[in-house]
Amino acid sequence: MVTLTERVADGLCDGEVRDMHGVLMRLTLDIVVRTLFGSNVELDVSAVGAALSEIMDRYASMLPFIVPGYDKLPLPRQRRFREALALIDGLVGRIIDERRRLPDSGRNGLLSMLLAAQDEHGTGMTESQLRDEVITLMFAGHETTANALTWSLMLLGQHPESDDALASSLQETLGGRAPTVDDLPQLTAAENVVTEAMRLYPPAWSIGREVIEPFEIRGTLFPRGAQLWLAQCVTHRDPRFFDDPDQFRPERWADGLAKRLPKFAYFPFGGGQRACIGTSFANMEATLVLATLCRRFRFELLNAEPVELQASVTLRPKHGLRMRVRSRA
Ligand code: HEM
Repeated sequence: MVTLTERVADGLCDGEVRDMHGVLMRLTLDIVVRTLFGSNVELDVSAVGAALSEIMDRYASMLPFIVPGYDKLPLPRQRRFREALALIDGLVGRIIDERRRLPDSGRNGLLSMLLAAQDEHGTGMTESQLRDEVITLMFAGHETTANALTWSLMLLGQHPESDDALASSLQETLGGRAPTVDDLPQLTAAENVVTEAMRLYPPAWSIGREVIEPFEIRGTLFPRGAQLWLAQCVTHRDPRFFDDPDQFRPERWADGLAKRLPKFAYFPFGGGQRACIGTSFANMEATLVLATLCRRFRFELLNAEPVELQASVTLRPKHGLRMRVRSRA
């Protein structure tokens, strides 16, 4: 994670303007493919990222889901969607083939576990199940983390005093070197920034559940089959749980707030049996990436206009996040 982030940082120049959302999307995609699948497959991160966005954009509209036969309509958007699917399918196929060709001794990591997995009847996954698992992890495993990091940079850009506090804490802990996994327990300032950013701008802004047993809350009956939406973006700003709920204050997490909160007052990763399986991975990644970048740079917002939000599957900046890169040196 740190090696790939350092490579990105080496490519940033003092004074230049970059779309940091785009930068972080490509970085987290690269990280997920290399770390989870241990893959060396040649990866055109920009093309894959663009294809994943194309597929994701489908969820910004209900049309594909309510118009019968939408998939067969000769629309340019449909053609782009099919091309994007073919590109991702080809990449995932290459990742799986590469792993299959490795000798048993060289096989480790999550992809090898998926290849070896068998159900209670001793049957392994079909080719399409395997592909679906890999694609799910690629999707679930990069956009969310990229958004958590993008909002962190935006909020640090809006709050220079928090950015200064982060920079001096990183200097104290790291003394001018890149972080390693052993530094994680000391990187609480970076972790608190990410935690606070996910409170204000939860990458997964709501999650759904279907009622399987009818129940009642304060006189309202929720029948079997009802669809419920639990919105992090609302609960996370509830003044019953957070002082000055709309304010960005990473230090609020410094004195054990997480332990004092009621269980579902803060739930960026959902909860229960379907909670995010990537929670630890994402927390580790977001902390290391933020520490690696912010140790070397600060990122300035170009203007005071609020960044437009897009609540698709995830909560992301609608037009990216253009920032001016400033070297701390
Ligand atoms: C900041 C980053 C992330 C956030 C905010 C996030 C959030 C979530 C949320 C809210 C859910 C639904 C949970 C529920 O319904 O209770 C979820 C599910 C899931 N996440 Fe994440 N996630 C993140 C990173 C990751 C990463 C890095 C991976 C993979 C390495 C991942 C893999 C998954 C998978 C596979 C599921 C489906 C789990 C299931 O249905 O059993 N996520 N995530």
